[in-house]
Amino acid sequence: MPEGQGQGTAPGPVMLITGASSGIGAAVATRFAAVPGWRLLLHGRDAERLDQVAARTGGTALRADLADPASAGRIAADAIGTAGRVDVLVAAAGVGWAGPFTAIPPSAIDEVLAVDLASVVHLVRQILPQMVERGRGRIVLLGSIAGAVGVGDEAVYSAAKAALGTFADSLAYELRGTGVTISLVLPGIVDTPFFERRGTPPRRTGLKLLTPEQVAEAVWRAVMLRHRAEIFLPQWLRLPARIHGAAPLVFRRLAERFG
Ligand SMILES: NC(=O)c1ccc[n+]([C@@H]2O[C@H](COP(=O)([O-])OP(=O)(O)OC[C@H]3O[C@@H](n4cnc5c(N)ncnc54)[C@H](OP(=O)(O)O)[C@@H]3O)[C@@H](O)[C@H]2O)c1
Repeated sequence: MPEGQGQGTAPGPVMLITGASSGIGAAVATRFAAVPGWRLLLHGRDAERLDQVAARTGGTALRADLADPASAGRIAADAIGTAGRVDVLVAAAGVGWAGPFTAIPPSAIDEVLAVDLASVVHLVRQILPQMVERGRGRIVLLGSIAGAVGVGDEAVYSAAKAALGTFADSLAYELRGTGVTISLVLPGIVDTPFFERRGTPPRRTGLKLLTPEQVAEAVWRAVMLRHRAEIFLPQWLRLPARIHGAAPLVFRRLAERFG
């Protein structure tokens, strides 16, 4: 999608990144800022960190709390008002909660479902029509391996990420022939403030920690080189996801035995 121009005010392609104030979203902003021509619209909540990323990458900061149902409409209006259009949407904002399901506070259930699922669906709803109208666009959603196989003590988070995967699959049918593509990136464990924020370290799985830059590189490839519907990181995680899909009981026994 390197050219990316359509009608609008920005000369180069316009990318809106949610969750750009930290971790993976910030790394995606840095990756695309390294290539001249991109107009970056950076969403986040924390003003100080968001402004730092904006200053470093030359992007424009758009602040909003995605737990607020009205935020998707506001972000879309601000983005299109600022740059005239959005050619690429990377939905990287997300929040976790880990612990026994019987202990999760109702407010945390609402937050995880609102930020990780509802806000993404609403934002895509707001951004997609102008992409379809121009006959080009890329949407990249941040899923998780947790959504592909389910993870104990992360039932709500896993459910939200699984729903995001089904949303992307379903929407892909509607997008066929429109010039707009949708991809889902499913990382394992990434070394970001995500775990500190949720208050519990990552589960000990033997998975090698990814860097946010590795995830940003995968997003770069999805946008620039070749559309892929699903991108597992590391790539071998596709195998357990496939086993889970084809033989869930076998998967569960293996997971219980080997963690
Ligand atoms: N880290 C991992 O191991 C891992 C693995 C698989 C998938 N993921 C997914 O990757 C995505 C990025 O996570 P990360 O690791 O980069 O985490 P992170 O460093 O904690 O960043 C999360 C981002 O989401 C934003 N955010 C959270 N709650 C928000 C809210 N209510 N309103 C607006 N923005 C909000 C944060 O904004 P502020 O900082 O401004 O509050 C921040 O920019 C998430 O969707 C996550 O589920 C992460």
